[in-house]
Amino acid sequence: MVRKTLIAGNWKMNGHIEDGVAHAKGVALEVKKAARKDCEVLICPPFTLLMAAKKAIKGSKVQLGAQDCHFDLKGAHTGDISPLMLKDLGCQYVIVGHSERRTDHGETNELIAKKAYSAIEAGLKVIICIGETEKERDENKTIEVCTAQIMGSVPSNSTAQNTVIAYEPVWAIGTGKTPTAEDVEEVHASIRKVIAKKLGRANANKMRILYGGSMKPSNAKELLALEDVDGGLIGGASLKVADFTAIIESSKQ
Ligand code: PGA
Repeated sequence: MVRKTLIAGNWKMNGHIEDGVAHAKGVALEVKKAARKDCEVLICPPFTLLMAAKKAIKGSKVQLGAQDCHFDLKGAHTGDISPLMLKDLGCQYVIVGHSERRTDHGETNELIAKKAYSAIEAGLKVIICIGETEKERDENKTIEVCTAQIMGSVPSNSTAQNTVIAYEPVWAIGTGKTPTAEDVEEVHASIRKVIAKKLGRANANKMRILYGGSMKPSNAKELLALEDVDGGLIGGASLKVADFTAIIESSKQ
């Protein structure tokens, strides 16, 4: 297997110290028990929980990621967090371009590319999110939209080692709806082709492309078995240890 499965939990704006720590410890314990070598596990708690979560997962193979960062490494940006700060704190990953940031904060492909570029420069791995809205899907524009998002938001310093793409149809996030397995495979295969055009065939073959959007224990096995699906970015179901670990378990081929 050229591409190691990545199961990433995006906690979004959820959790306080006490339950967050308990949750991170629970995930770490299950990951330890499972002792899988073929699957990376990542949790992305909110900024306020990163330090506590880091301590909670210490000694386990669970990795730590943040949900966003600024594109500058430091300076006058009130309320923002730089990729160097995340690196300093012990994060290995940062998510950029999640649809909730594109929508809630008006983030553009150009801005996301800048964030991803500097996160990579800071030594982090980036998970760059893309995906079409329901309207775009209805208008048969899924491939076109995803292609434009990749071309615009994947930076020039991206490689298969430092970048992961997450395909998350906006209409599937938090709704319980998912595309069919055939649709997911079609989009993932087309994403790989676009990556090949942008970064070369070698990077495209090795770059992980995650599926995200209502992934849960009941649909994870089918989705994770698809040829071009290399893991999942999980929101709601990552907030329950049992569901998250069931998804990790489903990634076994
Ligand atoms: P969901 O969210 O699993 O709750 O649909 C996924 C995401 O937004 O990353």
